[in-house]
Amino acid sequence: MKGEKMENNELLYLSEEDTIRAGLLDIRFCVDNAEEVFRTVTRGEYLMGGPSENEHGIRICFPKEKRFPGMPVAAPGYSFMAMPAYVGGPFGAVGEKWYGASLQNLKKNLPRAYHMVMLNDLETGRPLALLTAPLLSAARSGAAPGVAMRYLCHDGCKKAALVGAGLMNRFVILALFSECPGIESVQVYDIDGEKCKAYCREMSEFTGREVSAAGSMEEALRDADIVHTGQSNSFVLKKAWLKEGAVLLISSDVEIEQDILCDAQLVFDHKAAHDIWIQNDPQMGLPTFDALRLMEAGAIPADRVCDLGDVIEGRRLPEGVGHRIFYWMGMPVSDIALAAALYQNALDKKIGTKLRLWDKPLWK
Ligand SMILES: NC(=O)c1ccc[n+]([C@@H]2O[C@H](COP(=O)([O-])OP(=O)(O)OC[C@H]3O[C@@H](n4cnc5c(N)ncnc54)[C@H](O)[C@@H]3O)[C@@H](O)[C@H]2O)c1
Repeated sequence: MKGEKMENNELLYLSEEDTIRAGLLDIRFCVDNAEEVFRTVTRGEYLMGGPSENEHGIRICFPKEKRFPGMPVAAPGYSFMAMPAYVGGPFGAVGEKWYGASLQNLKKNLPRAYHMVMLNDLETGRPLALLTAPLLSAARSGAAPGVAMRYLCHDGCKKAALVGAGLMNRFVILALFSECPGIESVQVYDIDGEKCKAYCREMSEFTGREVSAAGSMEEALRDADIVHTGQSNSFVLKKAWLKEGAVLLISSDVEIEQDILCDAQLVFDHKAAHDIWIQNDPQMGLPTFDALRLMEAGAIPADRVCDLGDVIEGRRLPEGVGHRIFYWMGMPVSDIALAAALYQNALDKKIGTKLRLWDKPLWK
């Protein structure tokens, strides 16, 4: 019989190297997977957390003041988050991504976030697989803007700008070269100039294409037909910096000037999730909140707004003549769908390490 057979008391552990061997660096595979996720979500064949069935996850945020000795306090980017999801459609998978993150890690030369994904059997709840997932998480994060490139960017796009020379933008650049074959130049801006140069060197070598470091945000964005934001600290995105008609792919915390927003065509990853977010956690200050408030005030008409799933399903494109903006804030369904596909590949190719839950449960 082809493929790995798992016993009832076993789960498959996939290290980062295992996930790579199972196909994680195959960007077309990741973008196709992300496209199916958007399709599945727009058809309503999913569940995410909480009573709204649309929550991003549950966060532990430490307070500004210590409440007892030994308690950590709030710090930039310091959080712990559980992100459960069921994704139906072609996936039929359930699981959870769990991570701890801190921006301080970057100073210690550590990853910003440590993600793990657990997949469970839909019928019994039995754990099927545990995956090391910082790279998986970056891949699903970079693949979604790749779907937006597939559906929202036109063939004439020749220049791209990436903000942030981090992990997510490694997959975004792979998606860019894969989805937009007409791209001739990529400018990258990062506040850390040395990191930016190292990223450009590495990604030029990896892709065999030229990737250049820009000296300023303005320089990177000036002539870009496509802009992707994937930086960790917020900035104000100015209309004066942008080429007319540039497509803006917003995956990180950015304050977009109101002039841009009021004319724009807005494509959400899944607007229902942002409606819940602004209600439950307005302090979070996501980049979508300004747009949602302008919509509520009537400054952005409803026909300028849709979900990417609507575009994929051929139902509609947003009206309007300004910049096309895609908002991508991440969804747990994406982690589970990509993990499920990698798990299947790992079984087929006999990749990974079997772990035993027990030889025999002591008490049931
Ligand atoms: N939408 C999603 O699904 C999703 C998923 C993961 C991360 N994110 C967001 O994207 C950000 C980047 O994620 P990552 O894993 O690539 O992080 P990373 O730490 O690997 O990279 C972030 C980079 O941004 C640079 N940077 C910070 N502020 C900047 C600024 N104002 N201008 C230019 N460069 C700046 C940093 O120097 C760093 O190199 C995260 O902080 C998070 O906010 C979004």
